[in-house]
Amino acid sequence: MTIIVTGGAGFIGSNFIYYELKNHPQDRIICYDALTYAGNLSSLKGALEYKNFSFVRGDIADEKAVDELFEREKPDIVVNFAAETHVDRSILNPASFTKTNIIGTQTLMDASREFGVKRFHQVSTDEVYGELPLDKPELMFTEETPIHTSSPYSASKASADLLALSYYRTFGLPVSITRCSNNYGSYQFPEKLIPLVISRAAEDKPIPVYGRGENVRDWLYVMDHCAAIDLVMRLGREGEVYNVGGHNEKTNIEVVRTILKKLGKPESLISFVKDRPGHDKRYAIDAFKIEKELGWKPQTRFDDGIGLTVDWYLENGKWLGDILAGDYRNYYDKMYAGRM
Ligand code: NAD
Ligand code: DAU
Repeated sequence: MTIIVTGGAGFIGSNFIYYELKNHPQDRIICYDALTYAGNLSSLKGALEYKNFSFVRGDIADEKAVDELFEREKPDIVVNFAAETHVDRSILNPASFTKTNIIGTQTLMDASREFGVKRFHQVSTDEVYGELPLDKPELMFTEETPIHTSSPYSASKASADLLALSYYRTFGLPVSITRCSNNYGSYQFPEKLIPLVISRAAEDKPIPVYGRGENVRDWLYVMDHCAAIDLVMRLGREGEVYNVGGHNEKTNIEVVRTILKKLGKPESLISFVKDRPGHDKRYAIDAFKIEKELGWKPQTRFDDGIGLTVDWYLENGKWLGDILAGDYRNYYDKMYAGRM
C-alpha cells in the first residue's frame, strides 16, 4: 500500500511515520510537508534511511502541487496531520489557520476524489467539542457531543471535520476522522506546554502558567495516538468519527510540578501569568467507541510516558537547541541539496 502522510515533519506526524515503518514495513510512505516553523526535517532523519520512505516538500493548499503528487504517487491512503496547531498563535494570526486547516484539507480531499483514494483520514482534535466544566467530572466528550468551538484553531479544525463528513455523504469519499486529546512525547515543538516546561526548566528559566494552572487536559502518549490512527485508517468504518483519549486528566499545575520534580528543579520557577483569551477549562475524552469496535487501548501510563519524554528532551539537546536558535531552517537545504 502507498500512504501519503501530510504534516509528517511535525510532532505527531513524525512519530506516526516511525510507527508505520516499524509496524507495516511492506507499505510505502511519502511524507508531504510544507516545513513551516513547526516542521523539522531532522525529526525524520531516521526515516530517511528507509527505502520505502520519501519526503516531498509542499503545501496542502497548493492544488497544482497536490495534484502532481497524487498523480505521481497514486496513494491508497491519505492521512492528514498537516495543520496550524497552536491555539495561542491562532489568537494572534487566525488567517493561516483558515488557509491550511480548512482550504488545505479541502484541497487534499478534492485530489483524493479525483485520484480514487481508498481512505482519507483526517487527524482532528477534542477541541472541536469546546470545553467541559471543572465541577462536573462525570461529563466527557463522546462522538455525539455537539461541536462548540472556542478558538480560531478549534473552529478551523471543526470546519475541516464538517467538510470531511460532507465529502463522505455527498460524494462518497471514504473518509474517517479521529478526535484526540492532548498528546505528549518526543519531537513536540517547544511552544506547547510539556516541551516548553522541560526546555525552560532545564535552563532554570521561569515557567509561564496561564491563570492559576487549574485548567484540565487529558494527556495521551503520542505512540498510543499513532496506534489509534493506524487502526482507524485501516479498519475503521467509513464516514465515522472516533474519539481517542487516555483517561488521564491532569490540571496544568500538576503537570508542571511533575516535570519539575523529574528534573529536580524548584517550584519557584513557576510564574503565573495572564490567562489565554477564551481558555477552555477542561477536556476529557470518552474513547468507548474505538475500544469496543477496534480493540484500541492506551498502553502507556502517564508516569512512564512523561519520564520517557523528559529523558528524550534531555538526550536530544541538539534537536531542541537548533529549534530554539532557528537553525533548523537551514537544515532542510543542507540535507536535501541535490537529493530531490
Ligand atoms: P505540529 O504543529 O507539530 O506539526 C504540523 C506539521 O504540519 C508541521 O510539520 C508543518 O510543517 C506542517 N504543515 C503546516 N502547514 C502546512 C501546509 N499548509 N502544508 C503542508 N504541511 C503543513 O502539529 P501536531 O501537534 O503534530 O499535530 C498534528 C495534527 O494532529 C494536527 O492536525 C492537529 O490538529 C492534530 N492534533 C494534535 C494534538 C496535539 O496534542 N498535538 C492533539 C489532537 C490532534
Ligand atoms: O486537545 C488537543 C489539542 O491540544 C490539540 O488540538 C492542539 O493542537 C494542541 O496544541 C493542544 O492544545 P492546548 O491548547 O491544550 O495545548 P498547549 O500545550 O498550548 O496548552 C496546554 C495547557 O497548558 C492549556 O490549558 C494552556 C496551558 N499553557 C500553555 C502554554 C503554552 C500554560 O499554562 N502556559 C503556557 O505557556
